[in-house]
Amino acid sequence: MTTQTPARPQLIDLHPPSADMLRLVQDGLQREPRQLPAWFLYDNEGSRLFDQICQQPEYSLTRTEIALLESAAADMAHAIGSGVIVEFGAGSARKVGPLLKAMRPSAYVALDISADHLRQSTAALQAQHPGVPMLGICCDHSQLDVLPDHPLIRGRRRVGFFPGSSLGNFTRNEAIALLRRFRDLLDGGPLLLGLDQPKSRSRLEAAYNDAAGISAAFAHNLLQRLNKDLGANFNPDKFRYEAVWQEAESRVRMALISEANQTVSVAGEPWAFSAGQPLVTEYSVKYSVEMARELAKDAGWRWCQRWHDPADDLSLHWLEAAD
Ligand code: AVI
Repeated sequence: MTTQTPARPQLIDLHPPSADMLRLVQDGLQREPRQLPAWFLYDNEGSRLFDQICQQPEYSLTRTEIALLESAAADMAHAIGSGVIVEFGAGSARKVGPLLKAMRPSAYVALDISADHLRQSTAALQAQHPGVPMLGICCDHSQLDVLPDHPLIRGRRRVGFFPGSSLGNFTRNEAIALLRRFRDLLDGGPLLLGLDQPKSRSRLEAAYNDAAGISAAFAHNLLQRLNKDLGANFNPDKFRYEAVWQEAESRVRMALISEANQTVSVAGEPWAFSAGQPLVTEYSVKYSVEMARELAKDAGWRWCQRWHDPADDLSLHWLEAAD
């Protein structure tokens, strides 16, 4: 008997150039309140810190979703069917395992903004699932118009997977645009969408401001990234991290609050911050089942079914492209 060594997953690098990043930062700094695109948080250090957030006792989202996938993957596979699994924002790709086992897809395609993270995560996953061909695509999936023409994708049914409630990091209009984009990218195939649900203020604020300070470090790292990649001169010590549940908008707002009147330079351009002025690093919208169904409908999807954990904290929604 011969044992086959799994091939190394290929990587296609479509990371946006830094000129685009500078334009997005300039746009964000002109908003009221100032806000930066959430994907900027995920350079290599940011991705590492996010993995640590997922292990904090206060942040149960990842653990709960993995447990749900482990218990319901067979049922999901039976209902949804198979094809090529296309995971949007795969990160450390720790959630797709049960679907790879239950769906036995023809291939697994992981999209993520961090090339290094993608390389490591697909290599680790490939070792666990040697029979599933894998491909990584480094990109900002909110700007991607088509999936690259590749033999693992061409002519196959595509099954989208967007877990982790990452859709919650987009505004409603952006979320609708993204779901419409996924519809095109999946070419008529279904989408399995993970969304976290509203909970008590105390639980949510603790989840996004953990006692170990990892959430705060994650936000501060964004400033360090701007310093490194865009020649900015933010002093992270002059910004305080805060996470607040905004019930009317059903979202947690994460922001860095300027501790003083100060002027920061980004690529040579000065930006004045007044004491107390927020720089929003992320929103995390929590979707009730009704909100999720309405969002799906508005984005051209037909809501089919959901699977949820025993406490009904979060759901994996199965959507089909509406005719
Ligand atoms: C990736 N995303 C779904 C996380 C969330 O829960 O909104 C990002 C995060 N930021 C701080 N903690 C977690």
